[in-house]
Amino acid sequence: MRFVPSNCLKPGQKLGRDLVFDRNRILLRYGVSLTEGHIGKIQALGFQGVYIDDDISKDVYAESIISDELRHRAQKDVRSLFVKAEADPSNRSLSHVLSLTPLINNIVDEVLHNRNLMMNVIDIRAYDDYTYSHSINVTVLSTMLGLVLGLNRTALNELAMGAVVHDLGKIFVDKRIINKASKLTLDEFEEVKRHSLAGFNYLNISSALPGSAKVAVLSHHEQYNGNGYPGGHAGDDIHLYGRVIAVADVYDALVSDRPYRHAMLPSDAVEYVMSGYNTMFDPLVVDAFVRKVAPYPVGTCVRLSNNVTGIVVENFESACLRPKIKVVKNGEATDEYLDLAHDHGALSVTILGMADI
Ligand SMILES: [Fe+2]
Repeated sequence: MRFVPSNCLKPGQKLGRDLVFDRNRILLRYGVSLTEGHIGKIQALGFQGVYIDDDISKDVYAESIISDELRHRAQKDVRSLFVKAEADPSNRSLSHVLSLTPLINNIVDEVLHNRNLMMNVIDIRAYDDYTYSHSINVTVLSTMLGLVLGLNRTALNELAMGAVVHDLGKIFVDKRIINKASKLTLDEFEEVKRHSLAGFNYLNISSALPGSAKVAVLSHHEQYNGNGYPGGHAGDDIHLYGRVIAVADVYDALVSDRPYRHAMLPSDAVEYVMSGYNTMFDPLVVDAFVRKVAPYPVGTCVRLSNNVTGIVVENFESACLRPKIKVVKNGEATDEYLDLAHDHGALSVTILGMADI
């Protein structure tokens, strides 16, 4: 299985995973042979690419941190939470928020079970699903980062709860601004910035929710250097959960297709996060991030500085830019591998970018 960007797809290629669209509807099934029509639809719906199965990638497989079943259930539950909160914002019991507790437990369980895995799968989605899939992805990534940072089980559950509702305050922001396809005006941006405080105030009406989860919501747009909002707090004055969610939130937003811009490749989004080291982001959180998020996920076709092209087959936590690569020559797989992290002969070789094989 390998990832092929939408603009590089060719008719006849076979889909390597179900392609899921709005409300978990399967748009195209695993194994389907792509036609020109399918490819046009994939591009029109804003998918950044799809996984395909072919001879050169037949033994390449990446494991997801959480199962597809849990992801689909989580997406349904989060959608239902947003709908209920929006329908009755004055509900003081927050039973709809608290009812997510079993789901949060399941997500933390799966992250703990897969504690040795890296984020190695490109999450393929169209922008219609953004709010809900973004909430789930931020929750999974935040939990992974919390685990690397040494948080205990109770703390991980609280962090995950904060992450899943981090953007709930957007229900209080004008929908036309949230869904605007062009650049926001300064006034509109000020309106969007209200969402972290609005989300905190909304959640704060219940004492059943952990205080740290609420503070995480309040502080997820604070920046380590004090340039964030709403408080302009800096360093350790920002709650750790807010500092963790800030990194997960920015990364996942960058790799998502939005109405006003296309998704970034993971490699570019990882670079962006690294560039915020000690300025926008807490350096310890960025250190945890580069251990867990692969810039070139398994199945990515890459071009190397020694003119070799190949498919990433394995990533290593200790060296995120030095994966193991299966060499491809003239569009055919070979038995040759290049381990950029461990082969002495490959130490001077660098990845130049994605390749269209
Ligand atoms: Fe936000």
